[in-house]
Amino acid sequence: MKTSEIRKKFLDFFASKGHQVVASSSLIPGNDPTLMFTVAGMVQFKDVFLGFEKRDYTRATTSQKCLRAGGKHNDLENVGYTARHHTFFEMLGNFSFGDYFKRDAITFAWEFLTGEQWLALPKDRLMVTVYASDDEAYDIWHKTVGLPADKIVRIGDNKGAPYASDNFWTMGDTGPCGPCTEIFFDHGADVAGGPPGSPDEDGDRFMEIWNNVFMQFNRDESGVLHPLPKPSVDTGMGLERLSTVLQHVKSNFETDGLACLVRAAARETGVAYSQDVPSLKVIADHIRACSFMIADGILPSNEGRGYVLRRIARRAIRHGYKLGQKGLFFHKIVADLVSEMGDAYPELREKQAQIEDALRAEEIKFAETLENGMALVDAALEGGKKELDGETIFKLYDTFGFPVDLTADICRERGIHADLEGFERAMEAQRERGRAGSTFKMTGKLSYSGDDTCFHGYDKSSVEAKVLALYKGTEPVEALSAGDEGIVVLDNTAFYAEGGGQVGDVGEISAVGGIDALFDVADTQKIQGAVFGHKGVLARGALKVGDSVTATIDLHQRLASARNHSATHLLHAALRHVLGSHVAQKGSLVNPERTRFDFAHGEPVTAEQIAELERVVNRVIAHNVEVKAELMSMADAQKSGAMMLFGEKYGEEVRVLTMGDFSAELCGGTHVMRTGDIGLFKIVAESGVAAGVRRIEAVTGEGAVAWVQAQEAELKTAASALQAQPGELIAKIERLQAELKAAQKEAQQLKGQLAFGQLDELVSVGMRTINGVKCVGSRIDNVDAATLRDMSDKLMDRLESGIALLACVNEGKVSLIARVSKDLTGKVKAGELVNQVATQVGGKGGGRPDMAQAGGTQPENLPAALQSLPDWLMTKL
Ligand code: ALA
Repeated sequence: MKTSEIRKKFLDFFASKGHQVVASSSLIPGNDPTLMFTVAGMVQFKDVFLGFEKRDYTRATTSQKCLRAGGKHNDLENVGYTARHHTFFEMLGNFSFGDYFKRDAITFAWEFLTGEQWLALPKDRLMVTVYASDDEAYDIWHKTVGLPADKIVRIGDNKGAPYASDNFWTMGDTGPCGPCTEIFFDHGADVAGGPPGSPDEDGDRFMEIWNNVFMQFNRDESGVLHPLPKPSVDTGMGLERLSTVLQHVKSNFETDGLACLVRAAARETGVAYSQDVPSLKVIADHIRACSFMIADGILPSNEGRGYVLRRIARRAIRHGYKLGQKGLFFHKIVADLVSEMGDAYPELREKQAQIEDALRAEEIKFAETLENGMALVDAALEGGKKELDGETIFKLYDTFGFPVDLTADICRERGIHADLEGFERAMEAQRERGRAGSTFKMTGKLSYSGDDTCFHGYDKSSVEAKVLALYKGTEPVEALSAGDEGIVVLDNTAFYAEGGGQVGDVGEISAVGGIDALFDVADTQKIQGAVFGHKGVLARGALKVGDSVTATIDLHQRLASARNHSATHLLHAALRHVLGSHVAQKGSLVNPERTRFDFAHGEPVTAEQIAELERVVNRVIAHNVEVKAELMSMADAQKSGAMMLFGEKYGEEVRVLTMGDFSAELCGGTHVMRTGDIGLFKIVAESGVAAGVRRIEAVTGEGAVAWVQAQEAELKTAASALQAQPGELIAKIERLQAELKAAQKEAQQLKGQLAFGQLDELVSVGMRTINGVKCVGSRIDNVDAATLRDMSDKLMDRLESGIALLACVNEGKVSLIARVSKDLTGKVKAGELVNQVATQVGGKGGGRPDMAQAGGTQPENLPAALQSLPDWLMTKL
């Protein structure tokens, strides 16, 4: 059975059991700062499990793109060396949100795996594990399904802590979790390995194919488990593993979906196809991970997700190198992947060129240092050393771009110990920096279990509300008193909470009903789901939970943000018109001052393109089209062609924001009513932020007027400094530049003449004869290094046979030139001579035996250095 048929059968089976078939979400989890990648099918349903979000179905099924590299779920190290581990893989899953629980989950799984019209797997090849204390699951397997006791293994907390078990699944350090039951397929006695729970369980004989998690808890940051509102089910079955079983092969890499990539890896690295070469499997796995990551908007970089991508790509490239392929090859396999998976995942086909370009660029970058890095490894291991020291691992990382797991990989192949502790020590400073820059902060620091906040801010700037909760710092309190910094949660609000790139509103919350309290809101953030936290300081009085208040935003600031946000949508659409449809949003920040928009584009935006973008955007503004927000289903939004962003999390119902037929985007932000409200749109900066990502910053409305006025003021100041009118500035500057150039030339000539005039004096006064050799060692004033060199030519012509060292000082820097006529280079080399002086003035230099140059930074030591010359020459001549 082909992989595509298995995928379809699974979804059909669960659809027939009343499950909604839901599309795979992006590899970047939507709005979830606790998770780097989508590691399982349940990630897109996390908030549904936690009870923060409702869907109009209670059963769902998906085939989900997943990535396990970096973070808690990380299989990178194993890839290539086992039959079943991947970085990227597809997870088939069925989910119950407070609907069915253990019994149905287990019987559905059994029916799908063994039912005649479904997969019809032989029952005697299957066995299961259950969480040690889960008698209920045990009984369902034993009594309802009829599995013999010797096919059911209980697994306890086998990972060194309570609830740390192969049979207790957690999404990350925090989030939904629960006990699970896993189903294993026995590949037969000719494959090495033992059953789960036995000492040889890591072998490939018994392969876990399906995990049924009984979601019962939410784990908080301190490790405490809180019961979920409704017990639920989350299952995950590795599609590649299932293909292995149904295609009667022993390894995932032999299945239809991956064997073609192993073959492509062999073709591009110039080796014979074989399933016994781990490097080919590494490349086959990694091309999938890298391509899907890039298709979902990630690019190689030195932090966060981009760094994980870089690590995977470099690991693959290094394995190609190991096979003898020292040229570019990795990006050439993208085409094979697109023909294999492009039908199921059209984003691969759409982004093929972009994926190839990004990987090619990474190959070129890494190739520049790969060979030198490998030479460094060899040098460090010289003499048969059995350990690679931490300093070298750090140097490889820091200078040669070798991710540490890649170095560990190289050590493993050579049977050498890698001193990772030493590396960690050397890394400490960098790690601090990385941590500071990391955006993967824990959320949910505030414990809150009340109602959601209702947002009225699209059309109101002030609302009546009740205080639902108060926090002093992050501690829940009943009341705040004057001067306290804290967070206020209200039942209703007009304040927009930061999201979609737009900053949170500022303003004030004042108590009503005779209570005197005023809370200055400095920021608004969602503290969980749809609960808004108003952060700030109680400026006056006392505020209690339950108080009635009026929440009023600073309208002036909000309108400025709205103008910038609407302008961002126009800019996004204009970029696609002017630069092409490859432009995809990579990030944005909208605040009252400006908009900053990052997007994928391979080269700097030219001045003409910027002018064109400004013209296009300002034209739509002048047409004063209506800005409309409409709520619709995700499916309708997709049909309408509205732009949506990777990494954003959208619910079933989405808000589509249109501006005439020029722009349509999914957006929850606040906007102007008509484009004319934006006023002038002006781009103020264009720069690069990462490989393939550009940034445009722009201002609008009052901000644009202020910017233009500042420019004008600068122009006027410049003009008056040059005693010109602004309109004549350019001609005046050109004239002045020409005059300056002529004056500089003249000055140079004069200096030269002056200096050459000193030549006679140099020979007559400055020359000494040491052991019959004519020697000159002098400082010349008022010349530059080039003139000094010309002078040394002339001097040598005069001396014919002799030795000279000339020095000059310009702007605190010493320049030195040493000359030795050819007949004397056997006795003194110009390089030694120049360094004899240079080292005394804080410098170093070099050159040919007859001429050498050097610089120095300590002109104050020059006189003594020159004085020391005759004695030194005496020892040489
Ligand atoms: N979420 C569960 C897993 O990934 C099903 O194994």
